[in-house]
Amino acid sequence: MSNTAQTDFPINEIIADRWSPRAYADKPIEKEKLLAVLEAARWAASSYGAQPWSYIVATKDNTEEYAKLLSVLIPFNQGWAVSAPVLLLSLASTVNAEGKPNGHAVHDVGAASAQLSLEASSLGLQAHQMAGFDAEKAKEVFELPKDVEPIAAIALGYPGDPSSLPDFLKERELGVRARKPLSEIIFSGKFGTPSPLVLKY
Ligand SMILES: Cc1cc2nc3c(=O)[nH]c(=O)nc-3n(C[C@H](O)[C@H](O)[C@H](O)COP(=O)(O)O)c2cc1C
Repeated sequence: MSNTAQTDFPINEIIADRWSPRAYADKPIEKEKLLAVLEAARWAASSYGAQPWSYIVATKDNTEEYAKLLSVLIPFNQGWAVSAPVLLLSLASTVNAEGKPNGHAVHDVGAASAQLSLEASSLGLQAHQMAGFDAEKAKEVFELPKDVEPIAAIALGYPGDPSSLPDFLKERELGVRARKPLSEIIFSGKFGTPSPLVLKY
């Protein structure tokens, strides 16, 4: 199943083809593909080159670790994410090597996860990021050091058959993907004033 974005301007197909499924195929991810996806995250840019990201990874064949990661998700996300063969939790190191706060740590973790998602999409996989998890539980379960914050859980796998989902999720899975127009997000001069660049098309 694919869910390509209908873009106003042509963009790289890897970006247009990335989406967030909730139905995953009952098929493991090949080790080389999983490593490629993780490698893509590794090569993200970061403020001062601090590389503040790290990930907990759990594959379904390791039932104990998989159950541990699944247990930190909110019940709604557990309901569908359990079909994914791999679960991840992104983490941000919130202080730099000198022990000073890194104000861009969360930004950089997001960039790493975006790269992970795009690499996944290019390999026929899809990632679905989740804010719906219990951060306090994650800190405890994964013994996170005090300066490491859990940022997002991620389901990863081959997209599956939407008919396996309950009706309300099936509708969302098959619905048209939409975005705000460029005129609502690209400004010039001051916040809220659309750039002429994006008004003229
Ligand atoms: C940081 C982040 C947190 C998200 N949290 C959840 C979540 O907890 N549960 C969920 O079902 N989807 C979650 N999503 C998925 C978004 O709803 C989805 O990306 C958005 O609707 C756009 O769809 P697309 O990724 O298919 O383009 C999250 C996405 C991101 C990037």
